[in-house]
Amino acid sequence: MPEPPLVVIADPVAPAALELLSKGPGRVVDASADPAMLPSKLGAAWGLVVRSRTQVTEALLSQAPQLRVVARAGVGVDNVDLKAATARKILVVNAPTAATTSVAELTVTFALLLLRDLYAAIQKTKEGGWQRGLHGAELSGKTVGLVGYGRIGREVARRLRGFGATVQAFDPLLTRSPDETPLVPFDDLLGKSDIVSLHAALTPENHHLLNAERLARLRRGAYVINVARGALLDEEALLAALNSGQVAGAALDVFETEPPTRTALLTHPHVLPTPHLGASTPEAQRRAGVQVAEELLRLLRGEEPLYLVNTEVVARP
Ligand code: MLT
Repeated sequence: MPEPPLVVIADPVAPAALELLSKGPGRVVDASADPAMLPSKLGAAWGLVVRSRTQVTEALLSQAPQLRVVARAGVGVDNVDLKAATARKILVVNAPTAATTSVAELTVTFALLLLRDLYAAIQKTKEGGWQRGLHGAELSGKTVGLVGYGRIGREVARRLRGFGATVQAFDPLLTRSPDETPLVPFDDLLGKSDIVSLHAALTPENHHLLNAERLARLRRGAYVINVARGALLDEEALLAALNSGQVAGAALDVFETEPPTRTALLTHPHVLPTPHLGASTPEAQRRAGVQVAEELLRLLRGEEPLYLVNTEVVARP
C-alpha cells in the first residue's frame, strides 16, 4: 500500500497548524528546528510548509521530485521561485489574510511615532532629560499616500480615517477604488502626501520603486514608512534624502537584506528600524499556520485550493 503523502514543515509555524495537519490524512514531519535536516526530507515530500526563512529556489525544488504543493505561512511569496514551481506544476498557496490586521496596526503605530517624534522623546526622558515644549504633530489633518491598495492598504486606510487623516492611494493593478479612497497617479501621491507608506508585493517590476528620483518628488519634510518589502525602496537614496532633510523621518520594518547591513541608515536619528515583525503577533501567526494547514488538508482531500498564488499552474497541460 502506498504511504500517505508527506508534509514537511521547513520553518517554524504556530502549533495549531501542526495539530490540524496531524489529524489529516497525510504524514507530517517537522524539520523546522534544524534547517540542516531539510534536504534529507525533501526527496519524499508531497507538501512543503515555509515562512520566509527557507528560500524555495529551483535548486531546492530539484531535490523534491514528488513535491505537489508549497504552502507559504504568510503573505509575501518573494522567497518562492514561482516560475520554477509553475514549470514543475507545483501549486504555491499562501495565507493572504493572516497578517492584515497586525501589519495595518504597525503602520498606524509608525505614523504616530514618526509624527510625534516619540522615540526620541522617550529615549531622552529615559536618559534623565525633561524637555517639554512643542514636540511633533497630529496625524489628524495629514494626508497619507498608500502605495499598493490591496488588503493591507485598505485596512490601513480605514484606521487612518479614524484618526482624521486624508488617504489617497496608488495601485497600478486597480482600475477603480474598492472604497472611498481615491486612486491617484504615483506622481500626484508623492507630491501631495505628508506620509508615504508602502504596501505592495515585491515583484521584478517594482524593485526600487521609491528611488532617488521619486524621493525628490516628495513634499519636502515628508515621512516614509515601509512595512512591505525592503527592495521596494532604494536604501542609499533614502539615506541621502534623510541627510538632506527632503525626508523628515522613516519607519522601516523591512530591508533589502535581512538582517540589514547599512549601519548609517539603521542608526540615523530619524529612522525607526524594526526587525521585520509586521506579522509577528500570535494572532497573525496562528492565522497564517491554520490557513495553510487548512489549505493543505483541502488539497489532500482532493478539493480546490482557496489561496492559489500561481493560478496558471492549473491551466498548464
Ligand atoms: C509576510 O509576508 O507574511 C510577512 O512579511 C511576514 C513574513 O515574511 O513572514
